[in-house]
Amino acid sequence: MAPSTLICAVSRARVQAGERMRMRRVIICAVVLAVAAACEKAPPPAPPTGAVPAQLARGEALFNAHCAACHGQRAMGTDHGPPFINPIYEPHHHGNDAFLLAARRGVRAHHWQFGDMPPVPDVTEGDVGEIVSYIRWLQQQAGVY
Ligand code: HEC
Repeated sequence: MAPSTLICAVSRARVQAGERMRMRRVIICAVVLAVAAACEKAPPPAPPTGAVPAQLARGEALFNAHCAACHGQRAMGTDHGPPFINPIYEPHHHGNDAFLLAARRGVRAHHWQFGDMPPVPDVTEGDVGEIVSYIRWLQQQAGVY
């Protein structure tokens, strides 16, 4: 084998080793990114199941009559509004007053892409209190907080 061929073969081997290293780095990078993406997109909480306690039945009925068209059965969301089974709406982030304000004044779209929420004038302050108790129960059932 001529010396130049030998040098060529060695340098090719080096290039290939370098490529393997690069590939390995790319693969490690991809794995790290995939894990990071999986962490960011934590699976949505499971829908709350289980029988609604009797003292929340009125809150459930009011919620179904006035809120569920957008916020969904058992507050799981629809194409018109967000789910409340979501850490965004746990009590420290959206306290009970936020629900009264939302019903009174409506909500300008800011967290989502569903558009604005119109005011819901048919519910009294007491009604909203019962609706919130029902939503908090659902959130707890689903492990939101
Ligand atoms: C016509 C559809 C619709 C109905 C009916 C509706 N909502 Fe909403 N609601 C929305 C949408 C859309 C948003 C999300 C706005 C955003 O943040 O992008 C929202 C957001 C909210 C929020 C979050 C407010 C905030 O400060 O971010 C609360 C609380 C709320 N709704 C409560 C209720 C309650 C209680 C009812 C029933 C009395 C109700 N909604 C009925 C569409 C609706």
